[in-house]
Amino acid sequence: MLENAVEITPGVYWVGAIDKERTIFDSFMSLPYGTTYNAYLIQGKEKVALVDTVHPEFTHILLKKISEVVNPESLDFVIMNHAEPDHAGSLSAILSVAKKAKLIATKKGLGMAKVFYDILEEKGEAVTDGNTLALEGKTLKFIDAPWLHWPETMLTYCVENKALFSCDFFGAHVAPESLYEEEVGDIVLAEAKRYYAEIMMIFLNPVRKALGKLEGLDIKLVAPSHGPVWRKPDRILNAYKGWAIGPLRPKVVIIYVSMYGSTAELEKSIVEAIRAEDVEAVAYNMLNADVSHVVQELVDSSAIVFGSPSFYGGVHPRLASSVELIRTIKPRGKLVAVFGSYGWGGGAAKEIKARLQPAGFEVIDPLEIQGPPRMESLQKASSFGKTIAKRVKESLSA
Ligand code: FEO
Repeated sequence: MLENAVEITPGVYWVGAIDKERTIFDSFMSLPYGTTYNAYLIQGKEKVALVDTVHPEFTHILLKKISEVVNPESLDFVIMNHAEPDHAGSLSAILSVAKKAKLIATKKGLGMAKVFYDILEEKGEAVTDGNTLALEGKTLKFIDAPWLHWPETMLTYCVENKALFSCDFFGAHVAPESLYEEEVGDIVLAEAKRYYAEIMMIFLNPVRKALGKLEGLDIKLVAPSHGPVWRKPDRILNAYKGWAIGPLRPKVVIIYVSMYGSTAELEKSIVEAIRAEDVEAVAYNMLNADVSHVVQELVDSSAIVFGSPSFYGGVHPRLASSVELIRTIKPRGKLVAVFGSYGWGGGAAKEIKARLQPAGFEVIDPLEIQGPPRMESLQKASSFGKTIAKRVKESLSA
């Protein structure tokens, strides 16, 4: 299965590696479908370029696949769109075989290649926005795209094939049976959204800027470095536009933890009340929920509701890391509500507000209930849910 190089468009070969064994990325994002480290060989009439490499554990696979097309020693250029080790980790090994090859990257990228992989400065050639590289019959154009996903990132476009090599941008953690997205199915777009949420959402302005730069480009194929190739590029381009620029949805994400069931009871009343107002409500119990799925929901949601019992005067530890994560990744919908129960004194709501408000989130008056909720408390929870739904509708019509 995908054990050999594949010509994905004339003169362009996928020479990447499939990693079905990996179960987590960045020690955070679960990988139920594994991932790929895609690299591409572009064969001009005179010169040959390799676009990105692979995770260092798969260097032997990359070399084997390159060898099926050309002698690896004959590579003229190695293009590094991104310095992170899952794409550049094989750089030293490849350049020690391809001795005459020049390393092409942004100026920042070359600096990182030196720090991370001990690549000597004289091996590198810095490129910037709009620079081109002629391979005879294949012309590569470089597009500056910082922060997708590190400050040095760039995109590479093959003019003749109208193919965009986008590295992390437009990627998805899927180790497929087929290289082509339309043959793999809807799971790719779903995983691309989860990937966007984890890797790209925090860089909203760079994403918007890069999408703007791609507007004028005739793109027939998007070849990212994770997951299948998009032969129907509008699917992923339009999805990204929706996630980064399109309107948010009338949707609330509730994440909560409960110790004795009191906060969970409040959660049920709140969810019911939100739904009764025709606003979508999706709830996750953080005792067992996968936080990367929560983050995916935040791509298009208008509000986040945290439910936490007060735990020794603060937020419950099972929820605390999610509060921190959400503060860090900056979802577009910044309306926040907090609820929970307490035994002898509150504190969870105060702590969550103190973490999120300075980061630009709007925190509405919290609901904290002492002890197990009685009828009156559940009615308060219900009207709290109604208030959240009302605020969501107001934010969408503003
Ligand atoms: Fe897939 Fe930012 O590396």
